[in-house]
Amino acid sequence: MPFYGGDELATVYDKALDEGFGLVASNVAEPNVMMGLIEGADQADSDLLIQMSGGAASFAGNGDPEAGLRAMGTYIEEIADQYDIGVFLNMDHQTDMDFIDMQVESGIPSSIMIDASHEDFEENVARSKKVVEKTEQADEEILVEAELGQIKGVEDEIVAEEAFYTDPEQAVEFVERTGADLLAISVGTQHGVAKGKDLDLKPDLATEIHEALSDHGLDTPLVLHGSSGLQPDQLSDFMNRGICKVNKDTRYQYEYSRTLFDLYREEPNDIVPPEGVEDERDAFFNDVEWSPNKDRFDPRVGGRNVRERIAEVYAGLAEVSGSAGQSLYKSATHR
Ligand code: 13P
Ligand code: ZN
Repeated sequence: MPFYGGDELATVYDKALDEGFGLVASNVAEPNVMMGLIEGADQADSDLLIQMSGGAASFAGNGDPEAGLRAMGTYIEEIADQYDIGVFLNMDHQTDMDFIDMQVESGIPSSIMIDASHEDFEENVARSKKVVEKTEQADEEILVEAELGQIKGVEDEIVAEEAFYTDPEQAVEFVERTGADLLAISVGTQHGVAKGKDLDLKPDLATEIHEALSDHGLDTPLVLHGSSGLQPDQLSDFMNRGICKVNKDTRYQYEYSRTLFDLYREEPNDIVPPEGVEDERDAFFNDVEWSPNKDRFDPRVGGRNVRERIAEVYAGLAEVSGSAGQSLYKSATHR
C-alpha cells in the first residue's frame, strides 16, 4: 500500500530533518498533474507529498469539495499502487472546520494544514489547537500543519496583501500551545509568480526559528510556502535549516498550460481552420474544405505531454530540495 498515512509521513519528516532535505509538497486539482508527479517522484527515487487546497477539492468534485477529496483520494490510491515509493496527501490551506471534520472522518489525508494565520495570534492558536484535537479523535494518525506569520500573494482562496515575518519566540509559544506537528513560517517567499529577484528572503530567520524550537525540545519540521518564485540556489539555501516541506503550486499550473500551448501552437491549423476558411464549429466543419486533426486534439495527446513535463519538472525539483534518492518506502519494499 504505497498511499500512506500520518505515521509513515512522520518518519519521512524525521529523516528529512536529520539529513537536511525537504519534500516538495505539490498541489494538484486534476489527475494529469497528479500522475506526472508520481512518475517524477518514482524516477527521482523520492517519496511524494501531493496536496489539495479547498478550491482544488471543490474543482475536482464539480463544486463539492467532499466529493472531490473522495474522488481524488481514490484516484491517487489506485495510481500510487502501481509504484513502490511512498505517496502521501496533505490538505493545503484549510479554513473550513466542517470540511476538516469530514477530512478527519474520511481517513484519506495523511496530514491537514489549518490556515488561521490571517487571524490574530490568540485566534490562530485556538483554531489550530482545535484541529489538533480533532485529529486526535481519528482512528489513524493525521499530522497537522499550522501557520504563523503571513505569506504575501494569492493561493487559491487565500489572499494576503502584505507579508509578516514569523517571530522565533512566538513560534515556540505557538507550537507549544497548539501541539501542531509542522509549522509553516513566513521568511520572505510569496505565493504566485513571485520572481526570485523581487523577494526579500530571510533564510537565517528559518534557522533562528528552527534553533528556538530545538532549544525548547521541539523538533517541529518547518514548512516553506510559496516556493514557485524561488530560483534553485535560493531554494537550496533554505534546506538544512529545519525546513522539511516546500510547497509548490504555481509552477505546475504554468507548466500545464504552457505544455498544451506549445503542443497546439506547433500546428495551429490542426485545431482551428486557416484564415479565410469558415470556423464552422457547430456543424463540426461539415461544409468546409478543412478538417481538424485528431492526432493532435485528442485530449490524451496533450494529457500525456503534461504528465511527462510535470514528471521532468518534479524530478528536477526533488534534486534541488534534496529528496531525490531518499525514498524511505522504495528502499523499504526492496529490502
Ligand atoms: P506557489 O503557488 O507560490 O508555489 O505556492 C504554493 C503553496 O504555498 C501552496 O500552499
Ligand atoms: Zn501556501
